[in-house]
Amino acid sequence: MSENLNELRQQLDAAKRRIDELEVLVRQKQAMSSGHEESRDEKGSDRNVAMVVFGASGDLAKRKTYPALYHLHAKKLICKDVLVVGYARTKMNADEFGAYMRDDVLKKSDGFEEFLSRCCYVSGNYDKPDELLQIDKEVRTRLQLEPEAAYDRIYYLALPPVMYEPVLKALHDSGINKKGSTRVIIEKPFGHDLESSCRMNSNLLRMYQESQLYRIDHYLGKEMVLNMIVLRFANSVFEPIWNNRYISNVKITLKEDFGTQGRAGYFDKYGIIRDVMQNHLMQIFALIAMESPVSLSAEDVRDEKVKLLRCCPPISMDDLVVGQYGTDATGKVVPYLKEEGVAQDSITPTFAAAIIRINNPRWSGVPFIVKCGKGLNERKTEVRIQFKQVGSHLFKDVAPNELVFIIQPKEAIYLKMMSKVPGFKNELVQSELNLSYDQRYGNGDQPDAYERLILDAFKTEHNLFVRTDELEASWSIYTPVLHYLQANRVKPTIYEFGTRGPKESDYLAYRYGWERHEGYCWPQYKSV
Ligand code: BG6
Repeated sequence: MSENLNELRQQLDAAKRRIDELEVLVRQKQAMSSGHEESRDEKGSDRNVAMVVFGASGDLAKRKTYPALYHLHAKKLICKDVLVVGYARTKMNADEFGAYMRDDVLKKSDGFEEFLSRCCYVSGNYDKPDELLQIDKEVRTRLQLEPEAAYDRIYYLALPPVMYEPVLKALHDSGINKKGSTRVIIEKPFGHDLESSCRMNSNLLRMYQESQLYRIDHYLGKEMVLNMIVLRFANSVFEPIWNNRYISNVKITLKEDFGTQGRAGYFDKYGIIRDVMQNHLMQIFALIAMESPVSLSAEDVRDEKVKLLRCCPPISMDDLVVGQYGTDATGKVVPYLKEEGVAQDSITPTFAAAIIRINNPRWSGVPFIVKCGKGLNERKTEVRIQFKQVGSHLFKDVAPNELVFIIQPKEAIYLKMMSKVPGFKNELVQSELNLSYDQRYGNGDQPDAYERLILDAFKTEHNLFVRTDELEASWSIYTPVLHYLQANRVKPTIYEFGTRGPKESDYLAYRYGWERHEGYCWPQYKSV
């Protein structure tokens, strides 16, 4: 009898082990399929998921987070039973919150009401553990969970960074994180220099593991930025010429034709270098310049970015131009210094251009010119890779080849090259090989960067998020000049709103070998 019982127990154990193995296999398969609909925690189990949006009554949540969640839900890319809990201090009931979210566009969109039925709202303070427990209560009621049942949480902090630590600590202390997995999505600015960033990171890492943190840099979710790694490593033509033997300089530009758009209070504390250069432009830079990663896994790709950033010495003051927009030619635009929330004697730059150097065998001697600004002549983000002169004795007036990636507003890649003018004349003209996304792929419905990033957080995929060491390596490049500007109260050059920015920026680029060809105009330029 007891022998039979033992045999049965062994068979049961073997069966249990087999079930475990099969579950692992199923989960691996699901993780590999791109559009999977269930959420998983770090160990990979499927269960109920609640997305908690802190700062739900604020601007970022309304403009970006909720629309992205709605689109993902409507496209069935996240589990249809997801629960989205909005949390903020503003007192509102569920109906009032629904009315607040139903803006003119969304309320007419398919599936929006269904999505809203998966949303609820809780009001309370951010730093009081007992008040935050209301979230847990709401989740358990809505998902019909037993008090001990586990569920997965994704916290989206649509809050000013000063709130990150208090709210994450209060959540941690409340005990709400104990059952099931926890992921935390946060937005920049991640500190204002190397020291403050390190402090913030170490405080967060005391409560949460690196694998639980998802630091957003929304540029990583842009279509052309995602394409960089493919273009570089899935084509054989680029790699042999992607180095200091063939490339003269690289220019990465982010221009905006508007000012601070009502965010001057925030902007004045940070300035353009911290707002877009140290993060968005450095992510583009890293993807252009890094070595081939061992694999496409998040850790391998981020390892390569970190290695590259560590090869870059801090920017020198001689290689930096800062500007601040004044009024425009008509005198009608409010100059930066007169905007609400800006200190009267503010030295905060709204424009910056700098040279980044890379001390490694591939790039030594190739300057990377990074430039960004608000209140300029157009809205455009692009990368220009300028090749060295051909050095041919056969032709005169040969312009260097230039490979251009337009990241926005409309994605395109083109290679500027010399060609013969068709016909009897033996003339040369600068022409191009052209891949314009509109023409090639149509005006397809491309996902917004936030959609991609939030979806990746649902999938526990870290590739498009910024790792602690990456952040710190990037701050190391900028912190000395940021401190110098502040300590010496360096006055930015005032430039006219709606122009190309301070002339000094062009002089800086010319000094590093950049050539501007006035004669050439990319044919699609007007439609961009
Ligand atoms: C944000 C900055 O991170 O990026 C803004 O805070 C800037 O100042 C914006 O305008 C640019 O993003 P995009 O996607 O509009 O180019």
